[in-house]
Amino acid sequence: MKSTRDCLQATSDYVRSFRNSSPYINAHRGRTFVVLLDGQGIQHPNFANIINDLALLNSLGVRLVLAYGARPQIMERLERRGLSLEYAGARPVITNEVLEAVKDAAGSAGIDIQSRLSMGLPNSPMHGASLRVATGNMITARPVGVIDGKDFGHTGQVRKVDCDAINRQLDDRAIVLLPPLGFSPTGEVFSLSVEEVATRAAIELKADKLVVFSERQGLLDDTGEVIRVMPPREAGRRLETLDETSGGYAALHAAWQTSRFGVNRAHLISYQQDGALIEELFTRNGGGTMITQELYEQVRDATIEDVGGILELIRPLEEQGVLVRRSRERLENEIDLFTVVELDGMMIGCAALYPFGEEGIGELACVAVHRQYQGGQRGDLILQHIEKRANRIGLNRLFVLTTHTAHWFRERGFEPADVDALPRARQELYNWQRNSKVFVKAL
Ligand code: ARG
Repeated sequence: MKSTRDCLQATSDYVRSFRNSSPYINAHRGRTFVVLLDGQGIQHPNFANIINDLALLNSLGVRLVLAYGARPQIMERLERRGLSLEYAGARPVITNEVLEAVKDAAGSAGIDIQSRLSMGLPNSPMHGASLRVATGNMITARPVGVIDGKDFGHTGQVRKVDCDAINRQLDDRAIVLLPPLGFSPTGEVFSLSVEEVATRAAIELKADKLVVFSERQGLLDDTGEVIRVMPPREAGRRLETLDETSGGYAALHAAWQTSRFGVNRAHLISYQQDGALIEELFTRNGGGTMITQELYEQVRDATIEDVGGILELIRPLEEQGVLVRRSRERLENEIDLFTVVELDGMMIGCAALYPFGEEGIGELACVAVHRQYQGGQRGDLILQHIEKRANRIGLNRLFVLTTHTAHWFRERGFEPADVDALPRARQELYNWQRNSKVFVKAL
């Protein structure tokens, strides 16, 4: 008979990733996502894929609001008419003539999006499935007016988002399309920034997510790696270092703003990369940068609910003989001794601390980090947490018995020791057959 491990290896990548994505398929159903796609994204060759992925989300029951921009399309039209756009700071001045180009460009981009969405899901049984798009005067605007003597003309600001109207359409499973235009009760039209439309809509609809498509894949750290998660406070600090007119500013500002006003997760992804939306939404790690207040990954004391997750995590290691086998009963009895690392609801690391109070020493045992998350800092996080726990209960030394990972412990301050160094009760249980090495660390 095949062992579980052989079967695991035979599981195809496709099957594994489908299984991994299923929690998110369920989690996203019925949720409201606001998506921001600027005019550059619409012009990009990947636009067709983005629209197909949005259709897919709609078919999975996600309530979708798509706010789009049309800046380069507006510029093209102005150029053709021999007009130019004047800016004051990051804000354009929209004269009567410019407004005509804005209406043309925004209207035409909106129609392109609608026609693409009308195809349903290409290459699928849902091809041609009627997918409804709702658009209209859902944003009320007011003029920016005159600032420092400068009249901004038809440049507007969002005054009100008609949440009732939008929600009715979403209830009806339509995708709501928001142009970068706002209307006033006096019959005027104002040009709005797509970032403001998306931000206000996400906040006022109490959306679960804002997804911002921008040129880059997200925010990068000093080594050029994508930063996976960032708390709003740090995003705010980053904004201060950016020039208001620079490329990434508007996208990051939108994500930061929504996350400060109750939108749980704001995601920055690239409009250039095929499948970026799917990867971000249906994998645990995502592909871009997520701005969130939540504890997306946390190290904490285990509770009885974690037993199942811990078992799943340590089974493969038990089968390889790296860890000693533990039964569910034993784990349930000892759960208070465990520390776990949880990533978006999945157990990715654990360890236990068995105290020997009289001797002032504790055993660090059952240290495990999920295969896909090794090589990061998880092991260290767990060790730090365990050391704090040990201090809290008055222990001054830790020991560990290991057959496979001696170097890892040595690098973290553990020194080789004899079996005599173990507390008496533990010496009696020492399994000479396993011939584990003993390491001790003073705290
Ligand atoms: N797929 C999950 C979600 O949609 C998690 C995404 C995590 N993304 C990240 N960049 N860390 O919420």
